[in-house]
Amino acid sequence: MRGNLVLGNLIRPAKANSKYFPDRRNKAPPRQFIFFTGLPAGGILAAMTQLAERLRGKFIVLDGPDGSGKSTQATRLADFLSGQGCQVLCLRDPGDTQLGEGIRQVLLQGSARISPMAETLLFMASRAQLVQEKIRPALLAGKTVICDRFVSSTLAYQGASGVDRLIILDLAEAAVGGIWPDLTVILDVPAKLGLDRTGQRNQLLMRKKAAPGPTLFGDRFEARSLEYHEAVRRIFRELVKEYPHPAAVVDGSQPAEQVTEQIIELLQRTFER
Ligand code: TMP
Repeated sequence: MRGNLVLGNLIRPAKANSKYFPDRRNKAPPRQFIFFTGLPAGGILAAMTQLAERLRGKFIVLDGPDGSGKSTQATRLADFLSGQGCQVLCLRDPGDTQLGEGIRQVLLQGSARISPMAETLLFMASRAQLVQEKIRPALLAGKTVICDRFVSSTLAYQGASGVDRLIILDLAEAAVGGIWPDLTVILDVPAKLGLDRTGQRNQLLMRKKAAPGPTLFGDRFEARSLEYHEAVRRIFRELVKEYPHPAAVVDGSQPAEQVTEQIIELLQRTFER
């Protein structure tokens, strides 16, 4: 069944004088948890404890175009939630199982020609293993799972390569065996900005390695055309209307701290009760 709880565009870019981000010029530095202004100190603590409680056994996905900052945000969110008492498991898709890391290597760094449908099936195979081996047991144990990419990525990337959306969703139903995210957060950035960021990341990696390697020009996906990445971004932005599970867009081009604050606020609203 495809219920349509859509939380799209709940989040607006922060304005200097907004409720959560008051004008900080000539003022004392912001307190921690500034986004809960209005709640007394005890209320803040209670709200946090409740959030940790409500996130038990919840599955959160961070997704978006290359260079949207989702890996950074996954780490920041995991740190924050751990600090609130959540038991957090951070994973990446594809990967994080022996099979998944092998598939990741073939998909991202391999030189073999892979058709869009074969790509789709490989991503699904890695995902099926990840769900079976890591995600399902963690959720059953009451952990909060944060996953860097999931089915939403296949819809965007393989969708942009022409694979039918309904076929992807049908394959995903089989692969994930009923384990769908409780919330998918799409970090939206213009394709060019995302690619510039990954270019910088790859150059930094190169400097560290001091030897040429496959990351010089990005992985197989990063190396695709700007038009392709613009199509990927378009699908991600439209996904909140069509994804059969809760999803929302956050502006990923803002400074990392603001993005984290907005994601946390989104979690508060989504898991209110
Ligand atoms: P990342 O995990 O470092 O973001 O890189 C994974 C790359 O694989 C990225 O370019 C997006 C792409 N990808 C797909 O094309 N389809 C998928 O289903 C997933 C999960 C990733």
